[in-house]
Amino acid sequence: VTATLHIIMGNLQPVDICTFSSPSKPLHFGFSAMFGFGARTLALAEKHRWMPSNQRRDFAVIKTLASLKPEDCELSFLPLKNSQQDNKDQWHSIQGHFLNVSIMAIPCLCSMAPRGLAPNTRLNNGSMALIAVRNTSRAEFIKHLKRYAGIKNQFNFPFIETYTVQEVKVQPRNRSGFDNEEKVHLHGTSTEGNCPWNIDGVLMEGASEVCIRVHPQLITLYGRNTDEHDDLKTSCSCL
Ligand SMILES: *[C@@H]1O[C@H](CO)[C@@H](O)[C@H](O)[C@H]1NC(C)=O
Ligand SMILES: *[C@@H]1O[C@H](CO)[C@@H](O)[C@H](O)[C@H]1NC(C)=O
Ligand SMILES: *[C@@H]1O[C@H](CO)[C@@H](O)[C@H](O)[C@H]1NC(C)=O
Ligand SMILES: *[C@@H]1O[C@H](CO)[C@@H](O)[C@H](O)[C@H]1NC(C)=O
Repeated sequence: VTATLHIIMGNLQPVDICTFSSPSKPLHFGFSAMFGFGARTLALAEKHRWMPSNQRRDFAVIKTLASLKPEDCELSFLPLKNSQQDNKDQWHSIQGHFLNVSIMAIPCLCSMAPRGLAPNTRLNNGSMALIAVRNTSRAEFIKHLKRYAGIKNQFNFPFIETYTVQEVKVQPRNRSGFDNEEKVHLHGTSTEGNCPWNIDGVLMEGASEVCIRVHPQLITLYGRNTDEHDDLKTSCSCL
């Protein structure tokens, strides 16, 4: 009903979108990407498709939490250029063990995160939020995840870093579990990563290096920007 009303009213909303590519080929379009915990839970849930969907999600989250392990990777990113004057492209890079990494072009409001999975970006202002959760204890990580539902800042932890960016490259380093020699032994010739990605809830597997770039206002959807809704709420409830 909401969608139909937006179409009838002609509410048009430009939205930022990202492209995902590996060094050799383009992979996907999307709004949000997760690497680490958010992708491992999806990969596990996909393997248990016979379960009802709610049960499957809880099962996957609990099981992934039980065997929580960080990904060793390097995140390179191009911070968002603010002024026209400094147009030097200055790449930054952080590396280490990360439990969960989100790269979001839109805030992704949902019932589990009423302020959004990435409150620090907008639908259409040409920026992405890079949120990186470094390795920490399971208890601290759960504390962080729980905060998405509430009003406290979920990123206010010493193991979390957030950046406003226009492009990100994610490169896994030593694959977890076994070292490269064993890997070659086990899988024949290649050392291709099998690190899962969660792109808008769809599992993408196989790319070892992924580059994500934002394309400001590339598409137009029917809808209304909820950022601007707050002051409308009161007047709507009178109708
Ligand atoms: C981590 O993973 C969960 C998925 O279970 C996701 O909802 C959350 O936004 C992710 N990102 C960060 C930075 O924790
Ligand atoms: C988009 O909004 C976020 C959050 O307000 C801000 O951090 C970012 O700098 C904005 N991007 C642009 C291009 O203004
Ligand atoms: C991650 O943190 C946990 C808890 O502090 C620790 O036991 C584990 O060894 C760490 N893993 C890595 C790869 O640093
Ligand atoms: C891979 O792991 C080994 C041993 O754990 C470490 O010495 C090496 O620096 C790591 N390589 C990278 C690229 O992190």
